[in-house]
Amino acid sequence: PPVETVLGLDEMQEAAEKVMSEKTRSYYNTGALDEYTLDENRKAFNKCRFVPRIMVDVSTIYPQTKIFGQDSPLPIYISPASNALLGHPDGEFTLVRGAAKTGIFQGVSAASSLPFHELLEEKERLDAELGSKMNMGYQVYVQSDREKSEALVKEAVDGGVKALFLTNEKVKGTKDDCAPGIRMGPHTDYLPYHDARLNWDDLPRLKELAQGTPIYLKGVASIEDVRLAKEHGLAGVILSNHGGRQLDHTRTGFDALRQIHAEDPNLAKEIEIYIDGGVRRGSEVLMATAFGARGVGLGRPFLWAQTAYGEQGVIRTIRIMESEIVMAMRLLGLTRLDQVGPQHVECIQQMWK
Ligand code: FNR
Repeated sequence: PPVETVLGLDEMQEAAEKVMSEKTRSYYNTGALDEYTLDENRKAFNKCRFVPRIMVDVSTIYPQTKIFGQDSPLPIYISPASNALLGHPDGEFTLVRGAAKTGIFQGVSAASSLPFHELLEEKERLDAELGSKMNMGYQVYVQSDREKSEALVKEAVDGGVKALFLTNEKVKGTKDDCAPGIRMGPHTDYLPYHDARLNWDDLPRLKELAQGTPIYLKGVASIEDVRLAKEHGLAGVILSNHGGRQLDHTRTGFDALRQIHAEDPNLAKEIEIYIDGGVRRGSEVLMATAFGARGVGLGRPFLWAQTAYGEQGVIRTIRIMESEIVMAMRLLGLTRLDQVGPQHVECIQQMWK
């Protein structure tokens, strides 16, 4: 179907599934083990209901905000996800172009299928052509070969990225990578790509390499780690279970946000908090912002969009989210995002249902 007839992100997924190979489907769509967390990411938002305010002048709505220190037309961004080439022959270029043409912030994956410098060049070309400005972040994996990782960070920082996302990945994310078998004693036989030794003491070196570029820790689930990130001088955290691709049964980013807000409602004012995982509706973005999230990342929806329609699919996805966010704000009685708060959402207490 023509891209303009796609009205929601689930439909975008359906359009992608019609054209993608089995290999792409299993890479993009699946989660770890029994996929409880993958499933829960979607369901988490259904534990909450809105409490709209009425009789408010909502003739003009401003969904603009600042995310990762940059002006953004919407409180959403493209979460770094690997291997766009599996879905579309233009690979990550589709994301770069879609982001540049809409002003949306894009996180580029360390496991991008196209070389980072090519994406950077395309971004610079588009910025010059459109008069837009760099809104790109680079996601960092700390490899066992640290020199390689350092060189990549340096390239991104020198290239002018606005943020670094440090993903704490200790295994590769697919089912095939889970080593079977029971072993006794310490397990030191590790997949060699990601450095399992990565810990808080590595942050000073990363900060040095970042030269002032703000660092966001991605994959945080606990309030303790949010506090540690703050103590270590990071700009923010992304509450995320990596799209349900790592530890199955991990709680969702949204549930973590709710719990953190309940325990310390001021924490989100002291360190920037973002979430990702299972967000498919503008209304869900509003729920997250109500509990203090500055912005919300979408991973799979952009992979599906570019698989189905390339750059046009990416732009369409952003337009759909825009109209849903604006509609939700209008119906909630909000004209600006800083007006939304926990008073607009009521949730059941159980973490699961
Ligand atoms: C990811 N994600 C991810 N994250 C990251 O930091 N580096 C990466 O290379 C990847 N790669 C990746 C590949 C694929 C196929 C998926 C689905 C996800 C995780 C991603 O950034 C984000 O956390 C989740 O995708 C968010 O969940 P949704 O929006 O996909 O439900």
